[in-house]
Amino acid sequence: MTITIIGHGYVGIVAACVFADFGNTVYVIGHTPAKLERLRGGDPLIYEPGLAEMLKRNNTAGRLTFTTEYSEALKHSSIVFICVGTPPTPGTGEADLTTVFKVSETIGQNLNPDTFTVVSCKSTVPVGTNMKVKEIIESQLSKRLSAQHAPLNAIFSVASCPEFLREGTGIHDTLNPDRIVIGAEDQTSIDMLMELHKPFPGERVVTNIPSAELIKYASNSLLATKLSFANMIALFAEKLGADAPQVLRAVGMDHRIGPKNLDVSIGYGGACFPKDVQALTATGNQCGVNVSLLNAVEQVNELSWKNYADKVKKCAPIKLSTSPCLAVWGLAFKANTDDIRFAPAVKIVTELAKSGYKLKVYDPAAMENVRKQIGDIIEYFDKQYDVVTGADALCILTEWNEFRQADLAKIKSLLKMPLIIDGRNLYDPSKMKELGFTYVSTGRKTTT
Ligand SMILES: NC(=O)c1ccc[n+]([C@@H]2O[C@H](COP(=O)([O-])OP(=O)(O)OC[C@H]3O[C@@H](n4cnc5c(N)ncnc54)[C@H](O)[C@@H]3O)[C@@H](O)[C@H]2O)c1
Repeated sequence: MTITIIGHGYVGIVAACVFADFGNTVYVIGHTPAKLERLRGGDPLIYEPGLAEMLKRNNTAGRLTFTTEYSEALKHSSIVFICVGTPPTPGTGEADLTTVFKVSETIGQNLNPDTFTVVSCKSTVPVGTNMKVKEIIESQLSKRLSAQHAPLNAIFSVASCPEFLREGTGIHDTLNPDRIVIGAEDQTSIDMLMELHKPFPGERVVTNIPSAELIKYASNSLLATKLSFANMIALFAEKLGADAPQVLRAVGMDHRIGPKNLDVSIGYGGACFPKDVQALTATGNQCGVNVSLLNAVEQVNELSWKNYADKVKKCAPIKLSTSPCLAVWGLAFKANTDDIRFAPAVKIVTELAKSGYKLKVYDPAAMENVRKQIGDIIEYFDKQYDVVTGADALCILTEWNEFRQADLAKIKSLLKMPLIIDGRNLYDPSKMKELGFTYVSTGRKTTT
Protein backbone atom coordinates (compact mmCIF):
# COMPACT_ATOMS: atom_id res chain seq x y z
CA MET A 1 0.00 0.00 0.00
CA THR A 2 1.02 3.62 -0.29
CA ILE A 3 0.44 5.67 2.83
CA THR A 4 1.26 9.12 4.19
CA ILE A 5 2.40 9.90 7.71
CA ILE A 6 2.24 13.50 8.89
CA GLY A 7 4.78 14.24 11.65
CA HIS A 8 8.06 12.41 12.20
CA GLY A 9 8.36 12.42 15.99
CA TYR A 10 8.44 9.36 18.25
CA VAL A 11 5.19 8.02 16.77
CA GLY A 12 5.45 9.19 13.15
CA ILE A 13 8.96 8.07 12.30
CA VAL A 14 8.63 4.69 14.02
CA ALA A 15 5.31 3.98 12.27
CA ALA A 16 6.79 5.11 8.94
CA CYS A 17 9.82 2.84 9.26
CA VAL A 18 7.81 -0.19 10.41
CA PHE A 19 5.19 0.13 7.66
CA ALA A 20 7.98 0.64 5.11
CA ASP A 21 9.77 -2.43 6.45
CA PHE A 22 6.73 -4.50 5.48
CA GLY A 23 7.10 -3.29 1.90
CA ASN A 24 4.69 -0.35 1.91
CA THR A 25 5.58 2.91 0.20
CA VAL A 26 5.52 5.63 2.83
CA TYR A 27 5.49 9.40 2.39
CA VAL A 28 6.48 11.27 5.54
CA ILE A 29 5.36 14.89 5.71
CA GLY A 30 7.25 17.34 7.90
CA HIS A 31 7.40 21.10 8.03
CA THR A 32 11.11 21.74 8.52
CA PRO A 33 13.16 21.12 5.33
CA ALA A 34 16.46 20.82 7.23
CA LYS A 35 15.05 18.03 9.41
CA LEU A 36 13.66 16.21 6.37
CA GLU A 37 17.11 16.40 4.79
CA ARG A 38 18.62 14.77 7.88
CA LEU A 39 15.97 12.03 7.77
CA ARG A 40 16.81 11.41 4.11
CA GLY A 41 20.44 11.06 5.18
CA GLY A 42 19.50 8.41 7.76
CA ASP A 43 19.44 10.48 10.96
CA PRO A 44 16.18 9.66 12.81
CA LEU A 45 16.45 12.90 14.85
CA ILE A 46 15.36 11.11 18.03
CA TYR A 47 16.93 8.35 20.07
CA GLU A 48 14.98 5.11 19.76
CA PRO A 49 16.80 1.74 19.82
CA GLY A 50 17.03 0.11 16.37
CA LEU A 51 15.45 3.05 14.57
CA ALA A 52 18.53 4.37 12.75
CA GLU A 53 19.16 0.96 11.14
CA MET A 54 15.53 0.62 10.08
CA LEU A 55 15.50 4.12 8.64
CA LYS A 56 18.68 3.51 6.62
CA ARG A 57 17.39 0.16 5.34
CA ASN A 58 14.14 1.66 4.06
CA ASN A 59 15.80 4.78 2.68
CA THR A 60 18.15 2.54 0.68
CA ALA A 61 15.21 0.45 -0.54
CA GLY A 62 13.49 3.64 -1.73
CA ARG A 63 10.35 2.97 0.31
CA LEU A 64 10.48 6.23 2.29
CA THR A 65 9.97 9.72 0.87
CA PHE A 66 10.40 12.74 3.14
CA THR A 67 8.64 15.85 1.93
CA THR A 68 6.84 19.06 2.81
CA GLU A 69 4.54 18.61 -0.20
CA TYR A 70 1.08 17.28 0.61
CA SER A 71 -0.12 17.18 -3.01
CA GLU A 72 2.52 14.70 -4.15
CA ALA A 73 2.10 12.45 -1.09
CA LEU A 74 -1.71 12.48 -1.09
CA LYS A 75 -1.95 11.85 -4.83
CA HIS A 76 -0.69 8.30 -4.25
CA SER A 77 -1.82 7.47 -0.71
CA SER A 78 -4.87 5.48 0.31
CA ILE A 79 -4.29 5.97 4.06
CA VAL A 80 -3.09 9.12 5.84
CA PHE A 81 -2.03 9.02 9.48
CA ILE A 82 -1.86 12.27 11.45
CA CYS A 83 0.99 11.85 13.97
CA VAL A 84 1.59 15.42 15.16
CA GLY A 85 1.86 16.50 18.80
CA THR A 86 -1.17 17.21 21.00
CA PRO A 87 0.45 18.91 24.02
CA PRO A 88 -1.49 20.05 27.07
CA THR A 89 -2.84 23.59 27.07
CA PRO A 90 -1.25 25.43 29.99
CA GLY A 91 -3.82 26.15 32.67
CA THR A 92 -6.61 23.85 31.48
CA GLY A 93 -4.70 20.69 30.55
CA GLU A 94 -6.91 20.30 27.46
CA ALA A 95 -5.21 18.68 24.47
CA ASP A 96 -4.00 21.46 22.18
CA LEU A 97 -5.32 20.43 18.77
CA THR A 98 -4.01 23.42 16.82
CA THR A 99 -1.56 21.34 14.78
CA VAL A 100 -4.02 18.49 14.17
CA PHE A 101 -6.56 20.96 12.76
CA LYS A 102 -3.93 22.86 10.79
CA VAL A 103 -2.70 19.73 9.02
CA SER A 104 -6.33 18.62 8.46
CA GLU A 105 -6.95 21.85 6.57
CA THR A 106 -3.93 21.20 4.38
CA ILE A 107 -5.10 17.61 3.83
CA GLY A 108 -8.46 18.97 2.62
CA GLN A 109 -6.71 21.36 0.27
CA ASN A 110 -4.63 18.57 -1.27
CA LEU A 111 -6.61 15.34 -0.98
CA ASN A 112 -6.88 13.48 -4.28
CA PRO A 113 -10.63 13.58 -5.14
CA ASP A 114 -10.32 10.73 -7.63
CA THR A 115 -9.48 7.91 -5.21
CA PHE A 116 -10.80 6.96 -1.77
CA THR A 117 -8.56 7.92 1.19
CA VAL A 118 -8.86 7.11 4.88
CA VAL A 119 -7.57 9.84 7.19
CA SER A 120 -6.79 8.67 10.69
CA CYS A 121 -5.39 10.25 13.85
CA LYS A 122 -2.60 8.24 15.46
CA SER A 123 -2.06 11.31 17.59
CA THR A 124 -3.83 10.95 20.93
CA VAL A 125 -6.93 13.12 20.56
CA PRO A 126 -10.04 13.73 22.67
CA VAL A 127 -13.35 12.19 21.73
CA GLY A 128 -14.87 14.12 18.85
CA THR A 129 -11.58 15.17 17.27
CA ASN A 130 -11.65 12.79 14.30
CA MET A 131 -15.16 14.05 13.44
CA LYS A 132 -13.86 17.62 13.64
CA VAL A 133 -11.03 16.59 11.30
CA LYS A 134 -13.71 15.25 8.95
CA GLU A 135 -15.59 18.56 9.01
CA ILE A 136 -12.41 20.53 8.28
CA ILE A 137 -11.46 18.30 5.34
CA GLU A 138 -15.03 18.41 4.00
CA SER A 139 -15.13 22.16 4.15
CA GLN A 140 -11.86 22.44 2.22
CA LEU A 141 -12.89 19.83 -0.33
CA SER A 142 -16.27 21.48 -0.99
CA LYS A 143 -14.46 24.68 -1.88
CA ARG A 144 -12.41 22.81 -4.48
CA LEU A 145 -14.95 20.51 -6.10
CA SER A 146 -17.50 21.19 -8.76
CA ALA A 147 -21.13 20.24 -8.20
CA GLN A 148 -20.81 17.22 -10.55
CA HIS A 149 -18.09 15.58 -8.52
CA ALA A 150 -18.66 12.39 -6.53
CA PRO A 151 -20.17 12.79 -3.04
CA LEU A 152 -17.62 13.51 -0.33
CA ASN A 153 -18.12 10.13 1.36
CA ALA A 154 -16.89 8.49 -1.83
CA ILE A 155 -13.69 10.55 -1.64
CA PHE A 156 -12.60 10.11 1.96
CA SER A 157 -13.48 8.96 5.40
CA VAL A 158 -11.96 9.40 8.85
CA ALA A 159 -11.04 6.68 11.31
CA SER A 160 -9.39 6.55 14.71
CA CYS A 161 -6.36 4.30 14.97
CA PRO A 162 -4.69 5.18 18.29
CA GLU A 163 -1.06 4.37 18.90
CA PHE A 164 0.11 2.40 21.96
CA LEU A 165 3.91 2.21 21.53
CA ARG A 166 6.19 3.02 24.43
CA GLU A 167 9.26 5.14 23.84
CA GLY A 168 12.44 3.12 24.26
CA THR A 169 10.75 -0.02 22.90
CA GLY A 170 8.84 1.72 20.10
CA ILE A 171 9.87 -0.62 17.29
CA HIS A 172 9.26 -3.76 19.31
CA ASP A 173 5.88 -2.48 20.46
CA THR A 174 4.81 -1.49 16.96
CA LEU A 175 5.81 -4.89 15.61
CA ASN A 176 4.17 -6.73 18.53
CA PRO A 177 1.06 -4.80 19.52
CA ASP A 178 -1.24 -6.19 22.24
CA ARG A 179 -4.12 -4.89 20.17
CA ILE A 180 -4.87 -2.85 17.09
CA VAL A 181 -7.80 -0.53 17.64
CA ILE A 182 -9.77 0.69 14.64
CA GLY A 183 -12.63 3.12 15.16
CA ALA A 184 -14.51 3.75 11.95
CA GLU A 185 -17.88 4.58 10.47
CA ASP A 186 -17.70 2.60 7.25
CA GLN A 187 -16.65 -0.88 6.15
CA THR A 188 -14.26 0.35 3.43
CA SER A 189 -12.11 2.19 5.98
CA ILE A 190 -12.15 -0.82 8.31
CA ASP A 191 -11.10 -3.13 5.46
CA MET A 192 -8.27 -0.83 4.36
CA LEU A 193 -6.89 -0.41 7.89
CA MET A 194 -7.23 -4.16 8.52
CA GLU A 195 -5.30 -4.85 5.31
CA LEU A 196 -2.48 -2.47 6.28
CA HIS A 197 -2.19 -4.14 9.69
CA LYS A 198 -2.41 -7.71 8.31
CA PRO A 199 1.23 -8.62 9.07
CA PHE A 200 0.99 -7.55 12.71
CA PRO A 201 0.06 -9.93 15.53
CA GLY A 202 -2.32 -8.91 18.34
CA GLU A 203 -6.06 -8.70 18.88
CA ARG A 204 -8.18 -6.50 16.60
CA VAL A 205 -10.74 -4.21 18.20
CA VAL A 206 -13.11 -2.67 15.68
CA THR A 207 -15.43 -0.12 17.18
CA ASN A 208 -16.95 3.28 16.64
CA ILE A 209 -14.79 6.41 16.53
CA PRO A 210 -15.60 7.83 20.01
CA SER A 211 -14.83 4.46 21.63
CA ALA A 212 -11.46 4.19 19.84
CA GLU A 213 -10.57 7.72 20.94
CA LEU A 214 -11.58 6.97 24.53
CA ILE A 215 -9.73 3.62 24.60
CA LYS A 216 -6.43 5.47 24.30
CA TYR A 217 -7.15 7.88 27.16
CA ALA A 218 -8.61 5.10 29.32
CA SER A 219 -5.49 2.96 28.76
CA ASN A 220 -2.98 5.67 29.59
CA SER A 221 -4.97 6.91 32.55
CA LEU A 222 -5.20 3.41 34.02
CA LEU A 223 -1.46 2.84 33.51
CA ALA A 224 -0.76 6.17 35.23
CA THR A 225 -3.17 5.18 38.01
CA LYS A 226 -1.25 1.95 38.63
CA LEU A 227 2.02 3.88 38.82
CA SER A 228 0.63 6.46 41.23
CA PHE A 229 -0.92 3.69 43.29
CA ALA A 230 2.48 1.98 43.54
CA ASN A 231 4.07 5.28 44.56
CA MET A 232 1.39 5.83 47.20
CA ILE A 233 2.18 2.37 48.63
CA ALA A 234 5.87 3.40 48.60
CA LEU A 235 4.98 6.39 50.78
CA PHE A 236 3.13 4.08 53.19
CA ALA A 237 6.07 1.65 53.23
CA GLU A 238 8.56 4.39 54.03
CA LYS A 239 6.47 5.47 57.03
CA LEU A 240 5.65 1.98 58.26
CA GLY A 241 8.89 0.07 57.70
CA ALA A 242 7.49 -2.15 54.93
CA ASP A 243 9.21 -3.00 51.65
CA ALA A 244 7.10 -1.55 48.82
CA PRO A 245 8.61 -3.56 45.93
CA GLN A 246 7.92 -6.79 47.83
CA VAL A 247 4.42 -5.65 48.73
CA LEU A 248 3.65 -4.72 45.12
CA ARG A 249 5.17 -7.93 43.76
CA ALA A 250 2.77 -9.90 45.91
CA VAL A 251 -0.11 -7.60 44.97
CA GLY A 252 0.67 -8.09 41.26
CA MET A 253 0.54 -11.88 41.65
CA ASP A 254 -3.21 -11.55 41.82
CA HIS A 255 -4.30 -12.26 38.25
CA ARG A 256 -7.03 -9.64 38.50
CA ILE A 257 -4.29 -7.02 39.06
CA GLY A 258 -1.22 -8.27 37.15
CA PRO A 259 2.45 -7.45 37.81
CA LYS A 260 3.06 -4.72 35.23
CA ASN A 261 3.24 -0.97 35.89
CA LEU A 262 3.48 -1.44 39.64
CA ASP A 263 7.06 -0.21 39.95
CA VAL A 264 7.83 2.41 42.55
CA SER A 265 9.70 5.40 41.22
CA ILE A 266 10.14 9.16 41.31
CA GLY A 267 6.91 9.51 39.30
CA TYR A 268 5.80 9.02 35.73
CA GLY A 269 6.71 11.48 32.98
CA GLY A 270 7.07 11.61 29.21
CA ALA A 271 4.89 12.93 26.46
CA CYS A 272 1.90 10.70 27.20
CA PHE A 273 0.78 9.87 30.75
CA PRO A 274 0.96 13.40 32.24
CA LYS A 275 -0.78 15.08 29.33
CA ASP A 276 -3.31 12.32 28.74
CA VAL A 277 -4.40 12.26 32.39
CA GLN A 278 -4.74 16.04 32.22
CA ALA A 279 -6.66 15.90 28.94
CA LEU A 280 -9.11 13.26 30.22
CA THR A 281 -9.56 15.38 33.34
CA ALA A 282 -10.39 18.38 31.15
CA THR A 283 -12.85 16.29 29.12
CA GLY A 284 -14.48 15.12 32.36
CA ASN A 285 -14.83 18.68 33.55
CA GLN A 286 -16.40 19.66 30.24
CA CYS A 287 -18.92 16.82 30.10
CA GLY A 288 -19.73 16.68 33.79
CA VAL A 289 -17.93 13.51 34.88
CA ASN A 290 -16.40 13.44 38.38
CA VAL A 291 -12.63 13.34 37.87
CA SER A 292 -11.46 13.10 41.49
CA LEU A 293 -9.70 9.80 40.76
CA LEU A 294 -7.66 11.41 37.96
CA ASN A 295 -6.89 14.43 40.15
CA ALA A 296 -5.55 12.10 42.85
CA VAL A 297 -3.40 10.24 40.31
CA GLU A 298 -1.78 13.52 39.31
CA GLN A 299 -1.34 14.69 42.90
CA VAL A 300 0.45 11.47 43.91
CA ASN A 301 2.66 11.80 40.86
CA GLU A 302 3.70 15.29 41.96
CA LEU A 303 4.30 14.00 45.50
CA SER A 304 6.57 11.26 44.16
CA TRP A 305 9.28 13.52 42.75
CA LYS A 306 8.90 15.99 45.63
CA ASN A 307 9.32 13.16 48.13
CA TYR A 308 12.60 12.23 46.42
CA ALA A 309 13.86 15.85 46.45
CA ASP A 310 12.96 16.10 50.16
CA LYS A 311 14.94 12.93 50.89
CA VAL A 312 18.00 14.44 49.21
CA LYS A 313 17.63 17.63 51.23
CA LYS A 314 17.38 15.58 54.42
CA CYS A 315 20.29 13.22 53.68
CA ALA A 316 22.66 15.78 52.19
CA PRO A 317 21.56 19.03 53.85
CA ILE A 318 22.91 22.37 52.79
CA LYS A 319 25.03 23.75 55.63
CA LEU A 320 25.38 27.45 56.23
CA SER A 321 28.68 27.74 54.42
CA THR A 322 28.68 24.81 51.98
CA SER A 323 26.44 23.47 49.22
CA PRO A 324 26.78 19.73 48.75
CA CYS A 325 27.82 18.63 45.30
CA LEU A 326 25.52 15.92 43.98
CA ALA A 327 26.33 13.46 41.20
CA VAL A 328 23.25 12.66 39.13
CA TRP A 329 22.79 9.60 36.93
CA GLY A 330 19.84 9.84 34.58
CA LEU A 331 17.67 12.67 33.29
CA ALA A 332 15.40 11.05 30.68
CA PHE A 333 11.87 10.28 31.88
CA LYS A 334 12.74 6.61 31.55
CA ALA A 335 15.53 4.42 30.18
CA ASN A 336 16.26 4.06 26.46
CA THR A 337 14.94 7.41 25.38
CA ASP A 338 16.21 10.97 25.05
CA ASP A 339 12.72 12.30 25.81
CA ILE A 340 12.58 14.65 28.80
CA ARG A 341 9.04 15.97 28.42
CA PHE A 342 7.54 16.11 31.95
CA ALA A 343 10.54 14.09 33.19
CA PRO A 344 10.51 13.90 37.01
CA ALA A 345 14.32 13.85 36.94
CA VAL A 346 14.37 17.28 35.33
CA LYS A 347 11.95 18.62 37.96
CA ILE A 348 14.18 17.20 40.70
CA VAL A 349 17.46 18.62 39.40
CA THR A 350 15.81 21.99 38.78
CA GLU A 351 14.42 22.04 42.32
CA LEU A 352 17.75 20.99 43.86
CA ALA A 353 19.72 23.53 41.82
CA LYS A 354 17.30 26.28 42.87
CA SER A 355 17.72 25.20 46.49
CA GLY A 356 21.48 25.77 46.21
CA TYR A 357 22.91 22.33 45.42
CA LYS A 358 25.73 21.96 42.92
CA LEU A 359 24.81 19.23 40.43
CA LYS A 360 27.01 17.25 38.07
CA VAL A 361 24.85 15.21 35.73
CA TYR A 362 25.21 12.34 33.29
CA ASP A 363 22.63 10.72 31.01
CA PRO A 364 23.49 8.53 28.01
CA ALA A 365 20.99 10.19 25.65
CA ALA A 366 19.04 13.08 27.15
CA MET A 367 21.64 15.72 28.10
CA GLU A 368 21.33 17.85 24.99
CA ASN A 369 17.56 18.09 25.43
CA VAL A 370 17.99 19.00 29.11
CA ARG A 371 20.58 21.65 28.30
CA LYS A 372 18.13 23.22 25.85
CA GLN A 373 15.41 23.26 28.51
CA ILE A 374 17.20 24.34 31.69
CA GLY A 375 20.59 25.52 30.49
CA ASP A 376 23.68 25.61 32.65
CA ILE A 377 22.13 25.59 36.13
CA ILE A 378 23.66 22.09 36.28
CA GLU A 379 27.00 20.80 34.95
CA TYR A 380 26.95 18.19 32.17
CA PHE A 381 29.49 15.36 31.86
CA ASP A 382 30.04 12.77 29.12
CA LYS A 383 31.20 9.95 31.38
CA GLN A 384 29.23 8.38 34.18
CA TYR A 385 32.06 8.09 36.73
CA ASP A 386 33.35 11.64 36.11
CA VAL A 387 30.26 13.08 37.80
CA VAL A 388 30.85 10.92 40.87
CA THR A 389 34.41 12.10 41.48
CA GLY A 390 34.43 14.33 44.55
CA ALA A 391 30.62 14.46 44.88
CA ASP A 392 28.96 14.23 48.30
CA ALA A 393 26.32 11.79 47.13
CA LEU A 394 25.07 9.97 44.03
CA CYS A 395 21.44 10.45 42.97
CA ILE A 396 19.97 7.88 40.56
CA LEU A 397 17.01 9.23 38.62
CA THR A 398 16.65 7.07 35.48
CA GLU A 399 16.88 3.27 35.29
CA TRP A 400 19.39 3.00 32.41
CA ASN A 401 20.92 -0.50 32.16
CA GLU A 402 24.44 0.87 32.43
CA PHE A 403 23.70 1.94 36.01
CA ARG A 404 22.36 -1.44 37.10
CA GLN A 405 25.70 -3.22 37.33
CA ALA A 406 27.87 -0.19 37.99
CA ASP A 407 31.20 -0.62 39.76
CA LEU A 408 30.01 0.10 43.29
CA ALA A 409 33.49 -0.14 44.82
CA LYS A 410 34.66 2.49 42.35
CA ILE A 411 31.70 4.73 43.18
CA LYS A 412 32.53 4.43 46.88
CA SER A 413 36.15 5.36 46.28
CA LEU A 414 35.17 8.41 44.18
CA LEU A 415 32.42 9.82 46.43
CA LYS A 416 33.24 12.04 49.42
CA MET A 417 30.53 10.28 51.45
CA PRO A 418 29.31 6.73 50.68
CA LEU A 419 25.75 7.95 50.07
CA ILE A 420 23.45 6.85 47.22
CA ILE A 421 19.89 8.13 46.94
CA ASP A 422 18.24 5.83 44.45
CA GLY A 423 14.90 6.82 42.93
CA ARG A 424 14.76 3.62 40.87
CA ASN A 425 15.75 0.89 43.35
CA LEU A 426 18.54 -0.47 41.18
CA TYR A 427 20.54 -2.12 43.96
CA ASP A 428 20.08 -4.70 46.69
CA PRO A 429 19.93 -2.92 50.08
CA SER A 430 21.70 -5.74 51.95
CA LYS A 431 24.58 -5.73 49.46
CA MET A 432 24.83 -1.95 49.74
CA LYS A 433 25.02 -2.26 53.51
CA GLU A 434 27.78 -4.86 53.19
CA LEU A 435 29.71 -2.49 50.91
CA GLY A 436 29.45 0.28 53.51
CA PHE A 437 27.03 2.61 51.72
CA THR A 438 24.24 4.61 53.22
CA TYR A 439 21.63 3.54 50.69
CA VAL A 440 18.41 5.50 50.50
CA SER A 441 15.98 3.87 48.10
CA THR A 442 12.29 4.24 47.29
CA GLY A 443 9.57 2.58 49.38
CA ARG A 444 12.20 0.67 51.37
CA LYS A 445 14.11 1.17 54.61
CA THR A 446 17.34 3.11 54.36
CA THR A 447 20.29 0.80 55.01
CA THR A 448 23.50 2.06 56.51
N1 LIG B 1 5.57 9.41 22.21
C1 LIG B 1 4.84 8.35 22.53
O1 LIG B 1 5.30 7.41 23.20
C2 LIG B 1 3.41 8.25 22.06
C3 LIG B 1 2.74 7.02 22.11
C4 LIG B 1 1.43 6.95 21.67
C5 LIG B 1 0.78 8.07 21.20
N2 LIG B 1 1.45 9.27 21.18
C6 LIG B 1 0.75 10.43 20.66
O2 LIG B 1 1.16 10.66 19.32
C7 LIG B 1 1.22 12.06 19.05
C8 LIG B 1 2.63 12.44 18.62
O3 LIG B 1 3.50 12.15 19.68
P1 LIG B 1 5.08 12.20 19.49
O4 LIG B 1 5.68 11.77 20.78
O5 LIG B 1 5.45 11.51 18.23
O6 LIG B 1 5.29 13.77 19.31
P2 LIG B 1 6.59 14.53 18.76
O7 LIG B 1 6.55 15.86 19.37
O8 LIG B 1 7.79 13.65 18.96
O9 LIG B 1 6.32 14.61 17.20
C9 LIG B 1 5.42 15.51 16.64
C10 LIG B 1 5.80 15.68 15.18
O10 LIG B 1 4.88 16.54 14.55
C11 LIG B 1 5.60 17.38 13.67
N3 LIG B 1 4.82 18.57 13.31
C12 LIG B 1 4.50 19.62 14.10
N4 LIG B 1 3.82 20.53 13.39
C13 LIG B 1 3.69 20.04 12.14
C14 LIG B 1 3.09 20.50 10.95
N5 LIG B 1 2.46 21.66 10.90
N6 LIG B 1 3.17 19.73 9.85
C15 LIG B 1 3.78 18.53 9.88
N7 LIG B 1 4.38 18.04 10.98
C16 LIG B 1 4.32 18.78 12.09
C17 LIG B 1 6.85 17.69 14.44
O11 LIG B 1 7.85 18.18 13.58
C18 LIG B 1 7.18 16.31 14.99
O12 LIG B 1 7.88 15.55 14.04
C19 LIG B 1 0.77 12.75 20.32
O13 LIG B 1 -0.60 12.98 20.26
C20 LIG B 1 1.05 11.71 21.39
O14 LIG B 1 0.22 11.84 22.52
C21 LIG B 1 2.75 9.38 21.57
